[in-house]
Amino acid sequence: ETESLAPLSIDNVVVVSNRQPYRHRYEQNGDGDGSRAERSIAVDRPTGGLTAGLDPVMQKLNGTWIAWGDGEADRDATSEDGQVSVPPEEPEYTLQRLWLTDKEIDGYYYGYSNRALWPLCHLAMGRTVFDGEQWRTYRRVNQKFAEKVVDNVDDDTVVWFQDYHLACAPRTVRLQSSSSPFLLHFWHIPWPSIDAFRACPQHQEILKGLLGNDLIGFHVTQYCRNFLECAARLVEETEVDYDRGLIRHDGHETAVSAFPMGVEADSIEQLSEAADESAWQSFKHRHAIGPNTRVVLGVDRLDYTKGIPERLEALEHLWNTQPEWQGQFTYVQKGTESRSEIPAYQRLQNRVDEIIDRVNSRFGTDEWQPIVLVDENLPRKTLCGLYRYSDAAIVSPLRDGMNLVAQEYIASQVDDDGVLILSELAGSHEALGDAVLSVNPYDTEAHAKAIDQALTMPAAERRNRTRRLRRRVHNNDLSSWLNDVFEGAQQLREEQEAKS
Ligand code: G6P
Repeated sequence: ETESLAPLSIDNVVVVSNRQPYRHRYEQNGDGDGSRAERSIAVDRPTGGLTAGLDPVMQKLNGTWIAWGDGEADRDATSEDGQVSVPPEEPEYTLQRLWLTDKEIDGYYYGYSNRALWPLCHLAMGRTVFDGEQWRTYRRVNQKFAEKVVDNVDDDTVVWFQDYHLACAPRTVRLQSSSSPFLLHFWHIPWPSIDAFRACPQHQEILKGLLGNDLIGFHVTQYCRNFLECAARLVEETEVDYDRGLIRHDGHETAVSAFPMGVEADSIEQLSEAADESAWQSFKHRHAIGPNTRVVLGVDRLDYTKGIPERLEALEHLWNTQPEWQGQFTYVQKGTESRSEIPAYQRLQNRVDEIIDRVNSRFGTDEWQPIVLVDENLPRKTLCGLYRYSDAAIVSPLRDGMNLVAQEYIASQVDDDGVLILSELAGSHEALGDAVLSVNPYDTEAHAKAIDQALTMPAAERRNRTRRLRRRVHNNDLSSWLNDVFEGAQQLREEQEAKS
């Protein structure tokens, strides 16, 4: 499906991200004692989301991907100068690894990235920790990334930074590189309003770091507007053109633009087509869900922004106030453990466990368990099967940059019959619009009502809504998103060249 990417004319791309697209690890051969001779190196392929989507593009462009390597096997598979060719079986591009100490990972990843910027951008102000030491580590790690970038660019390079882990690197590259690569950044999470962002003690440096870019992309226009306003009011000596989305600062111009991300709709659809009903029945059987019990699904990283406790409480409210629903459907929560070294994430996991125990002991019977938590790793095809055969899905984040699960669910509806309950506070709500059942995740009663509505919606209406949604998801899929981003970069670069 990468064929549709053909018009791309950028041929020298360096992607920079926190997560690497391939990870090496040691595998035990046989039942040896773990000594070196008896293990071999295996490679984990990118799964889901951005790394999986960018990997085929990079294979086509033969570019360079800079990210940090993790662990002994990564080190052993990498050359002295940090390079490893990937994919391992049939090398197409270079993965350029840099190495971080445990202390750096703590301060930069578990610290400033995920205790300061992540909650700040998701308006979880009560969970922010702005620690001076973590901030300095974040800045130092960004400097390391920037140096790697500088070593790998010339005037024709497009550098593509990913996300909130790398806010300071662009300015450093601009100042330290002797060539002038084009700097592009995609910010995958929300950008908050100025009222929230100004609370960040490092707001100046974060903004200035990002203003080193030529182009910054966000998922939706509201995040662009928020960013423009933050730059205009928090960074001295900036000129902002709100209509054209341009910021001038320190003799350099940065364009800000919305590129709503999509999913690999065709391949998801194929996987869903291939997922047969007997696998679904055995999944239900494995989790003690009766063959005729209906299923409502939730698929999330266990993150406090995803609104999982709020959702479970809406289910509890429904079973309590409309007891006729007891025994009728099971809520299956696929929950992927995430960032567990951070106390706020541990608290969230405990809270989810507690609510599930409470609800299950309150309403459960010998024949029926109201909520099932699935924490096993599911192959993509199995996941697409869950999307396809469940009766409805709930995606109810309290705040979410885009949320691609919502789009994956839609892309899997090959029978045109699923119902999506979607939070108004997710970026994908703007992309999917009025054909979903909208909820405010903070409104327990309305949330419960939406679940009731999803489960009683007539087939004709379900078909009608799903068809409209599927069209949208296909028209704005991952490859069209990539094309839009690259075209935006290309156009801007041509304008810059014409000016100089
Ligand atoms: C969000 C972020 C990504 C991140 C992903 C998983 O979607 O925008 O940058 O990779 O969460 O989180 P993790 O911390 O495991 O990379």
